[in-house]
Amino acid sequence: VESLTQPKLTEWKGYKVYGFGFNADTIKWVYDNWTPWQDDVIVASFPKTGTTWLRHIVRLLYFRHDENLLKMTEGMVMPHIYLETGIPLKFEFLDKLPWDRKVLSTHVPAALFNFEKIRNAGAKVIYTIRNPKDQLVSWHKMMVNFPINREGTNLKDHYPLEWGKFFDVAISGKQQMTNKEGEYYMEHLLSWYPHRNDENVLFVVFEDLKKDPLKEIRRIAKFLDVKISEDDLLNVTESSSFASMKKEYHWTEKVKFFRKGEVGDWKNHFTVAQSEKVDALVKQKLAGTDIKFTYEL
Ligand code: A3P
Repeated sequence: VESLTQPKLTEWKGYKVYGFGFNADTIKWVYDNWTPWQDDVIVASFPKTGTTWLRHIVRLLYFRHDENLLKMTEGMVMPHIYLETGIPLKFEFLDKLPWDRKVLSTHVPAALFNFEKIRNAGAKVIYTIRNPKDQLVSWHKMMVNFPINREGTNLKDHYPLEWGKFFDVAISGKQQMTNKEGEYYMEHLLSWYPHRNDENVLFVVFEDLKKDPLKEIRRIAKFLDVKISEDDLLNVTESSSFASMKKEYHWTEKVKFFRKGEVGDWKNHFTVAQSEKVDALVKQKLAGTDIKFTYEL
């Protein structure tokens, strides 16, 4: 444990992994030593693409009939345990929890994720996708309010407060993330893309969920083998609406975690030049895929 709290590795498999309380040691430790339980769900995502929303939906689908479990898993307890922050102690703790399946999440790129072990254990993975313009605005709005983003920390260079600077640093891949130098969201997406048809992997698009939550939640329930009545589906949809979640997670207000929850807010922030820059990046990087982002509904 000591070696994990005093990290030695800052790079693993060519990825610089250091920041936000996680480091290469912990991610490597999880890769090598941690095994999920059957039916655990891991929400994998690039930040601000719908992680919390998906964790919340899975939690409702799994535990909706058990008031106690719903209470116990609300807020910090379960949905917020990131794989990256998982030092062994935390995972020992996880394995002693009084429920039979867990909802976890991670921001690691696919190369740092042990697919074989996860699949063999019978666990499932949901990968979220959101258009990169709304993602970037959401990311900036969170980081300007994030307590670690202060004078005197080196994070200031990675997450400038001013939008134009933030934009430039972000899209040039110079932020402190689980990325290789020069990589941003597109590379994260590309790393996960080859797994989109894996039997235990489901891709969920933020904008689809926004447009027709009932349909998407039905699809997610089917993927998780959750049998659910139409009435219950409606309840889950209502309890995972932006308004319901903003209320339930009111303690995140300071960091603007539930900010707007909309599609197309980027238009209030992006300049035409910035929008064109992202379009060019998408065109160049995702040329070999069938990914088409939805920028407005
Ligand atoms: P905005 O900042 O655009 O509002 P993550 O959980 O990956 O950090 O993503 C956060 C984004 O998802 C935020 O976007 C947040 O408002 C949005 N979000 C969370 N729950 C939502 C919901 N139920 N409906 C719509 N958007 C939601």
